[in-house]
Amino acid sequence: MFKILVGEYIDDEAISHLKEAKDIKVDVKIGIKREEILDIIQDYDALIVRSVIKVDKELLDRAKNLKIVGRAGNGVDNINIPEATAHGVIVANTPDSNTVSACEIAIGLMIASARNIVSANNFIKSGKWEREIFVGNELFEKTLGIIGLGRIGSLMAKRMKAFGMNLIAYDPYISDEIFKRNGCKKANTLDELLKKSDVITIHTPKTNETINIINSENISKLKDGVRLVNAARGGLFNEEAVAEGLRSGKIASFGYDVHSVEPRSECVLYEFENAIATPHIGATTYEAQRNVGTQVVKQVLNGLHGEIVETA
Ligand code: MLT
Repeated sequence: MFKILVGEYIDDEAISHLKEAKDIKVDVKIGIKREEILDIIQDYDALIVRSVIKVDKELLDRAKNLKIVGRAGNGVDNINIPEATAHGVIVANTPDSNTVSACEIAIGLMIASARNIVSANNFIKSGKWEREIFVGNELFEKTLGIIGLGRIGSLMAKRMKAFGMNLIAYDPYISDEIFKRNGCKKANTLDELLKKSDVITIHTPKTNETINIINSENISKLKDGVRLVNAARGGLFNEEAVAEGLRSGKIASFGYDVHSVEPRSECVLYEFENAIATPHIGATTYEAQRNVGTQVVKQVLNGLHGEIVETA
């Protein structure tokens, strides 16, 4: 009998599928506190997480029976992969399963920021009516800078091409062919993208190279009135620096789904009407969760039963 701990929300059907599997006992403890996981993890053969639970050395040291961590989603920055490997624990993520949803929320934040949709909504619901204070910008014929032209960045390029945007992308890890295929001009340096873009969206993992990639120094290189979007990972944009940019008017708007600390109830950006935030819901769609759930369950069951664990 294998024991699986589900520590963050995944699709109900995926849980039912796990429960029906042979030789499996499932404990669903959505929102489990760290202290509790550390206390009980030695009892489990598999752990399913999203982006909140930190699978670090401390947890892995205690996880004497753990064989596989299923990461229901894309980024693995909450998992210490070298430590997991050293502990003989497989880590399986589901990189393709929620890319469309992640891309769509970034587009949503971009449009909502450019057209003041959130503040106009709040305004009208307070019983007032005005139009002149909500003058926005069209995206048409503006230059969109895409940092990271991987799975989600490529989807973004295809979709925003249809909006009539000019596309420039920076990604030192992909071939010229991919830039061409996605209709993007290649920025040879990050600086080139920063200087040329009217709107910037980021789609990179969180690594030592990308943490704080948008910082005070880089913000000073941006066009005046630039619009920024981050639906990738908290910490890629330095929040203090973005707040300063919003305060000075250098940055016209910031749409963000991800936060330097999650969950949280306070942020230096909350005071700005033109910084609109969502609570890391990029992958929170029925479609993405169904895809993610189906894939992560298959991976975990395969891993426990000694079969091949596919990740894409
Ligand atoms: C992802 O990395 O795929 C998402 O951020 C997962 C999540 O929604 O927690």
